[in-house]
Amino acid sequence: MITTVGVLGAGQMGNGIAHVFAQYGYKVVLFDIAQVQLDKALKTIGQNLDRQAKKGAIPETLVEETLGRITATQDMTGLADVDFAVEAVTENEPLKLDIFRKLDRIIKEGAILASNTSSIPITKIASVTGRPDRVIGMHFMNPVPVMKLVEVIRGHTTSDDTFARTGVLVAKLEKEMAVSQDYPGFIVNRVLIPMINEAIFALYEGIASAEDIDKGMKLGTNQPMGPLALADFIGLDTVLAIANVLYDGFKDQKYRPCPLLVKMVNAGDSGRKSGRGFYTY
Ligand code: CAA
Repeated sequence: MITTVGVLGAGQMGNGIAHVFAQYGYKVVLFDIAQVQLDKALKTIGQNLDRQAKKGAIPETLVEETLGRITATQDMTGLADVDFAVEAVTENEPLKLDIFRKLDRIIKEGAILASNTSSIPITKIASVTGRPDRVIGMHFMNPVPVMKLVEVIRGHTTSDDTFARTGVLVAKLEKEMAVSQDYPGFIVNRVLIPMINEAIFALYEGIASAEDIDKGMKLGTNQPMGPLALADFIGLDTVLAIANVLYDGFKDQKYRPCPLLVKMVNAGDSGRKSGRGFYTY
């Protein structure tokens, strides 16, 4: 029975994942190496819960209850007793592999280790652990408290039991799952990132302004935000990292990242989180 969940990484995705597990009654241990990141995450979770309560989406009492279920720690051994862990650190393969090696040694036998990776092979992550049958992909969408989907990725070695238990968790969070095999970009990013990259090419080639590209896609295809605004929302560094995973994984020219995206990331313009991307925040 899963009652305690560990979340690794207190960034944009990690705070949302901790938020929803705690909201639905799980005890959450939130780990990050940086105390300032943990403080910022708890503050963001508090603000997002307040926003949900003000809109009447959750009862007022659930705000404090949810926050009370989250413990923050800078010490990975604090995750030893969790039943299920979700890793949500930066989209960087060596870093994730290193974390899974450590996690596997720390967390109790039998616990499931999930990664929120948006593109790195689950099979490879599983292979560095001593429990490859209990490793799975659990890819949440941003903003986590709002988005209904969780993409669940079965690695080559993921067991039916691990898959079934993960599916139960998704349902407990009142989310829907889409199941993907373990190939670069899975489902959502396989389709989304080439669309965003193509929008960046349209800007790079001077076809239209950022505003008109976004207006075209927003009003012309009923998307809640245009692809360039969405890129800023996801983070341009993350968009580039995923584009490179598709490009390297398929060795197909059609996935090459637009040079403008590369240049913006080199300049440190990573979208909303840095205050500047295709728009200024
Ligand atoms: N926590 C809790 N609630 C939140 C929230 C958060 N972080 N962010 C927004 N909300 C709530 C708001 O309170 C509001 O609630 P009501 O409907 O009850 O009023 C609702 O969500 C809509 O928010 P806003 O009114 O502030 O703004 P909006 O209508 O412009 O919607 C949006 C904002 C939800 C982000 C919407 O623009 C949207 O859906 N955008 C697309 C998001 C998307 O595509 N995400 C996937 C990105 S891809 C990804 O994550 C995977 C990857 O690997 C890259």
